[in-house]
Amino acid sequence: MKIFPSLLSANFANLERDLNPLVEEGVESYHLDVMDGNFVPNISFGPPVIRSLRKAYPQIELDAHLMVKDPFVVLEPILKIGVEWLSVHVEVEPDVDKISRLCRQYDTGFGLVFNPGTEIERGKKLLPAADFVLLMSVEPGFGGQSFNEETLDKVKKLKKYFNGPIQMDGGLGPNNVEKVVSAGVDWVVAGSSVFGQAVPTAAVRELLAAVDQPAP
Ligand code: DX5
Ligand code: ZN
Repeated sequence: MKIFPSLLSANFANLERDLNPLVEEGVESYHLDVMDGNFVPNISFGPPVIRSLRKAYPQIELDAHLMVKDPFVVLEPILKIGVEWLSVHVEVEPDVDKISRLCRQYDTGFGLVFNPGTEIERGKKLLPAADFVLLMSVEPGFGGQSFNEETLDKVKKLKKYFNGPIQMDGGLGPNNVEKVVSAGVDWVVAGSSVFGQAVPTAAVRELLAAVDQPAP
């Protein structure tokens, strides 16, 4: 299992204070929630913040989750900055051929995201273009929501059509991570269960220990 702490739950007034201990501990990958106030009822950050992060932390993996109605507004600016992973939602009916081609051009892994209410069938035809799939286990837009158990059945369904890495996002923490990983999830996004904790490095260790993995 790979953990992606989600910066949405970090302190935007002092990102370094939150990030440095994790980076020093060896946590390699970070999840970036880009929101447009349109596809989701919230606005977070976009290319300028990602650019600053890239510059300050050239060694970490950045994973941009685009919760936006029109991915093309931010797609190329983000790809040009350089992120390792980028995902778009099935619900916006994305031009997957074009987006995956652009991602390849910039050496960025392309992911397809399914909201809790979106059936796998709806994005089935798009799956061959994806390097990974993100299954939302909460409605997108906000951190700190409760995990939706029904997402576990979706992992099984998805595995029939897709054998790349499966990422899950929303409501994940030490109390349910083992269940999620046993169901077949490879990548775990964790916002409030990492940055919402007094000691984020200890929180990551606890998540890893819950699936019998050593500290990073
Ligand atoms: C929600 C975002 C998540 C969020 C998860 O729309 O996509 O990445 O940061 O936060 P937690 O882990 O607190 O549910
Ligand atoms: Zn996310």
